[in-house]
Amino acid sequence: MPWWRGRPVCCPGDDRLKAAVIGAGTMGRGIAQVFAQSGHDVVLTDMNQEVLPSALKNIWDSLERLRKKSLIEEEPSQVLTRIRTVKQIDEIGQNDIYIEAIFEKLNAKMDLFRIIDRIAPKSSIIASNTSSISINLLSTTVKAPGRFIGMHFFNPVPVMKLVEIIKAERTEQSTVESVVAIARGLGKEPVTSKDFPGFISNRILMPILKEAMLCLQEGVSTAQEIDRTAKLGLNHPMGPLELSDFIGLDVVMDIMEVLYTEFGEERFKPPIILRNMVNSGMLGRKSGIGFYRYGEE
Ligand SMILES: NC(=O)c1ccc[n+]([C@@H]2O[C@H](COP(=O)([O-])OP(=O)(O)OC[C@H]3O[C@@H](n4cnc5c(N)ncnc54)[C@H](O)[C@@H]3O)[C@@H](O)[C@H]2O)c1
Repeated sequence: MPWWRGRPVCCPGDDRLKAAVIGAGTMGRGIAQVFAQSGHDVVLTDMNQEVLPSALKNIWDSLERLRKKSLIEEEPSQVLTRIRTVKQIDEIGQNDIYIEAIFEKLNAKMDLFRIIDRIAPKSSIIASNTSSISINLLSTTVKAPGRFIGMHFFNPVPVMKLVEIIKAERTEQSTVESVVAIARGLGKEPVTSKDFPGFISNRILMPILKEAMLCLQEGVSTAQEIDRTAKLGLNHPMGPLELSDFIGLDVVMDIMEVLYTEFGEERFKPPIILRNMVNSGMLGRKSGIGFYRYGEE
C-alpha cells in the first residue's frame, strides 16, 4: 500500500510524492508550488506551452516573497529543482497523484481525464480542482472511480489555507483519507463536502458576488463604494468586485453557469454586466481590466 494511503504526511522532504499538475494557469501554478514547497516532485504541463515559462517565473517570485518573510527556509531555486515542466500531456508519466486545473469546461475536463486514466498507474489518485462541476460526472471518465476525488484549492494557493475535499458516490474512503493527509502535509486545512453543485464555498460565494454586480448594474453605487461597504461594514478582507477580478470574471461566469444549470435558481444566473464584460475580454486582473484597471499605477 502506498505510504500516503490513510497516513498523515510527515514533514517536507520525507515520503516524497510524485504529483502531476495539468493546467499551469492561476491555480495550477499555485498547486505545483505548494507540492514542491512541501518536498514533493512535480510535473507541470499546459496545452498552451507559452504559459509554462511565466508559470515558473511566477512561482519563483512567490517563493521569493515567502522566503523574504521567513515563511519558507529553502531558496526558491532549490524548490524549483522539484518542478519539471513538460509540453505534452503524454509526457507527464507515472505519478502518485494527478491534479487537473484546466478551464472550467465539462467536455475539456472529461477528455483530459480519459487521457490521464490511460497514463496513470492503478494505485494513483486522480483529482479535479473544479470549482463547480460534478465530481460524480467527472469520475465516470476513469476505470477506477474509487480513486477519483475533488481537491478544490483556493486562490492564491500558497496563501489560502482551505482545501475542499469532495467525495463522489463511488470515491473510496481510503482515497478521502489519503487526500486529507496529503492536504495536511501541504500545510492546508481540509474540509470535506458532498458532491453538491458549488460544494460549500462557491455555493455561498456566488450569490454574494452576483448581488454586488447587480448593485453596480443597477447604479446603486460605484464599484469602489460597493467594495468598501463589504470590507468596512461586513468585515470581508476583499470586496466582492475586487474578489471577482481576482478569481477571473470568465471563471466566475463559468461557475455561475454551472450552478444555474444544476439548481435552476435565479440567484445563480450570471448577471448581464458580467456576461458583457466577459464577452468583451474584460476578465479581471489577468486581462488588465475588469471592475478595476490593473498595471497602470
Ligand atoms: N481562479 C480561481 O480563483 C479558482 C479557484 C479555485 C478553483 N478554480 C478552478 O481551477 C481550474 C483552473 O482555473 P484557473 O483560474 O487556474 O484558470 P486559468 O484560465 O488561469 O488556467 C487554466 C489553464 O488550463 C490550460 N488548459 C486548458 N485546457 C487544457 C488541457 N486540455 N490540457 C492542458 N492544459 C489546459 C489553459 O491553457 C490555462 O493555462 C478551474 O476548474 C477553476 O474553476 C479556480
